[in-house]
Amino acid sequence: MTRATWRTRLGFVLAAVGSAVGLGNIWRFPWLTATNGGSAFLLLYVVVVLLVGVPGLLGEMVIGRRSRRNPIGAFDALGARQWRVLGGLALFASVVVLSFYSVVGGWILRYTAASATGAYFGAPQAYFAAIDFGPAAVGFHVLFLLATVAVVYAGVDRGIELATTVMVPGIVLLFGGLAVWVATLPGSAGGYEFYLSLDVGYLRANFFDVLVAAAGQALFTLSVGAGAMLTYASYIDEDRSLVADGTLIAVLNTAIGVLAGLVIFPLLYSLDLPPGSGGPGALFVGLAGGFADLPFSRLVGVVFFGVVLLAALSSAISIFEVLVAYLVDEHGFVRSRAVAGVGGLFLVTGSAAAMSPSLFSLLADTLANLALTVTLLGFLLFCGWVLGRDAIAEYELGAGRIARLTSRPWYYAVAVVVPLFLAFTLVTGLGTLVGVPVSAPQAAVVAVAVVGGTAVAARYRAEPA
Ligand code: TRP
Repeated sequence: MTRATWRTRLGFVLAAVGSAVGLGNIWRFPWLTATNGGSAFLLLYVVVVLLVGVPGLLGEMVIGRRSRRNPIGAFDALGARQWRVLGGLALFASVVVLSFYSVVGGWILRYTAASATGAYFGAPQAYFAAIDFGPAAVGFHVLFLLATVAVVYAGVDRGIELATTVMVPGIVLLFGGLAVWVATLPGSAGGYEFYLSLDVGYLRANFFDVLVAAAGQALFTLSVGAGAMLTYASYIDEDRSLVADGTLIAVLNTAIGVLAGLVIFPLLYSLDLPPGSGGPGALFVGLAGGFADLPFSRLVGVVFFGVVLLAALSSAISIFEVLVAYLVDEHGFVRSRAVAGVGGLFLVTGSAAAMSPSLFSLLADTLANLALTVTLLGFLLFCGWVLGRDAIAEYELGAGRIARLTSRPWYYAVAVVVPLFLAFTLVTGLGTLVGVPVSAPQAAVVAVAVVGGTAVAARYRAEPA
């Protein structure tokens, strides 16, 4: 059986943008910007996306397109069986992320419907508290999962590509429309100031904290570290410029994040809701609660949560597809059976997360970050030290001058700079997690040891042959 491929290059880019644009952009990104120095943060964030996010994304895409396999099989195809465990980690990360993501997707689905009836308008706080976890949350998680299943079941080109080709422009249009509309609301002007004010002083005083926050966001929002972009890139069948596609994906992703902020903050100001802290509570309680006071309140609610729903769904399908690709490639499953199997898995894990706030928080706040960071670190070390020249060749394949000019800098970013950075944040994060604070110099030593150790091991292996 021939392997699935994208029908067009644009289809691939839109699918990847659909994966990238999700809850990370709509809720986390505007908040990070607003609370970290406004447009000063935005500038720094763009730099981090270009220097850390895009190289990381391209590293995953290089592995995917070169191997044309799923995250585990990719290492077989590239003659490095001993790295398969890394692919296993990517699948694990996929399970962790989608298990909680699907619960949030369920909440959003419910709010889209509840907006039509105005169910939460009177008492938003009590409404959210009543539905966030428990049997009802399981029910809506299952509905969201079914929507994901339906798209993935229809196939790579006729399901994922077709759906995201409609959804991504839909997200832009609807959000663009909302952004224009909120600008006409009285009192909205303060929102732009809060969002885009230039606070260089804040940035200077907290540079490292802000840098780490920006880097974490850059990786999550670009969907790297779970093999989703690897899998999507494995369905590319023409050798066109990965650099161009990767940069375009990152630019569109950032632009849609900025657009979300241009809806949220003016809206909050016009509702006279002082922006408090971010997080799901603020989306479902603060903002949603304010909808009741707007003209066309129900319509606004449906459109707003409808857009968020599209964004969440187009992200969920990319994570789901990772596991489907694995079953299809490695175990010869037909797509329908693979989809059923993966759906069954998430039926269990997502329902557990929908019943248990502590499991949800373990997945969303702790495990996801760890698993994504470790996996991406491994992917990049593999690219840099095992693929080496082949990675550069794949990076340049089918691309023009810009790719040839950037291939060396990219290579050093992927082999050395970004891994050092990831290992550093990983060690610091692990220290905090187990309650043993790690100092910056200690973390730096470990980071250098990890990258240096990989380099030495790779050389040593390469020698005898
Ligand atoms: N990028 C998506 C967001 O911002 C989430 C997401 C989709 C993701 N696929 C992923 C995150 C894979 C990590 C890995 O909401």
